[in-house]
Amino acid sequence: MPRRSEEMPQGSMTPIRLVERRNKVQIPPDGVQRGRRLHSIRRRYAQLLRRYLFENLEEVLLEVYELGREAVVDELGLLSIAEMHHEAMGEIFSGNRDIQFSDNHYRMAGVVLSEFLSAYEMTSRGYREASTAMRHLNEMLEDEIRRIAHAIHDGAGQYLACVHISLYAIAKHVDDEGKKELRKAHELLDELERDLRRISHELRPRVLENSGLSGAVEFLADSVIKRTGLAIHVEDRIQRRLPSTIETALYRCIQELLNNAVKHAHASNVWILLEERRHLIHCEVRDDGVGFDASAALVHEKGSQLGFLGIKERVAVLGGGLEIESSRGRGVRVVITLPAQG
Ligand SMILES: Nc1ncnc2c1ncn2[C@@H]1O[C@H](COP(=O)(O)OP(=O)(O)O)[C@@H](O)[C@H]1O
Ligand SMILES: [Mg+2]
Repeated sequence: MPRRSEEMPQGSMTPIRLVERRNKVQIPPDGVQRGRRLHSIRRRYAQLLRRYLFENLEEVLLEVYELGREAVVDELGLLSIAEMHHEAMGEIFSGNRDIQFSDNHYRMAGVVLSEFLSAYEMTSRGYREASTAMRHLNEMLEDEIRRIAHAIHDGAGQYLACVHISLYAIAKHVDDEGKKELRKAHELLDELERDLRRISHELRPRVLENSGLSGAVEFLADSVIKRTGLAIHVEDRIQRRLPSTIETALYRCIQELLNNAVKHAHASNVWILLEERRHLIHCEVRDDGVGFDASAALVHEKGSQLGFLGIKERVAVLGGGLEIESSRGRGVRVVITLPAQG
């Protein structure tokens, strides 16, 4: 029977596919070892099933549960479990032609399968709880960002206005040379104010609340173009407002991906595409920069490289998927897919 090379736990709902084209990296570096562990799980499952059917010992169920937990850790998918159970039953049945299988045997086999799956039930409940907590954290973070953006925009604006007034007052007591210096100071303050406004809008653009994701992405792209000279091409085919959780998450992801394009890619162009297909929102951000080894993108657990991990988490709590495709010298393509209902 064909085996899938990457099996996802059904509870996590976040297919993360990494493709490093040149080296054809499609499984994690520890893929071979994982393959062995999955094989060992299948073998032990068949043994435990056999023992339970013929010896009917309660303690076997405990071992089955532990094996289920191991399978959760190794991300054995639910479809593969069904397949594994089916195969184990097939082996036991075809190897014991002289034994009569009763309804009771089938019922007991069902008990073994349920016991194995109960580890998954616990995990998916934990996952749902963690997702809810993460959503709340994201909402708190957005509130905090809104507060900081407001403080920069309005708070700093007021201080600057006071400084302007003081400078006008000083101007009355200084000679022409002094007045010239003060005019320069006014100009610098104006520049500072423009910068602070830009930062505050980038942090939390009002346009995201007022005219939605399209407006906010246009605004962000314009701002990055002015700041860096990078050519950013935005194509937005979604002609409606999305739930605010999705708009905010996508805005934050695109912001990080644009930061990456500026910081790491040495790209000339970035293309952003937003579209809705069959109740799924697709967001693609692509650049023509230097590229990198995509298989390493999500393994920096320590240190400062939280960009892709942050995106992965934001996408995961909304039940979406993330695909990072790159090879050295051939740019980066990131595709985020989210269920449209948020
Ligand atoms: N667009 C890109 N082009 C080239 N390399 C990239 C790009 N995006 C990310 N990378 C590489 O992936 C690494 C991880 O990115 P990320 O998780 O955003 O962390 P950070 O930006 O903090 O380094 C970066 O350090 C960089 O080496
Ligand atoms: Mg980054």
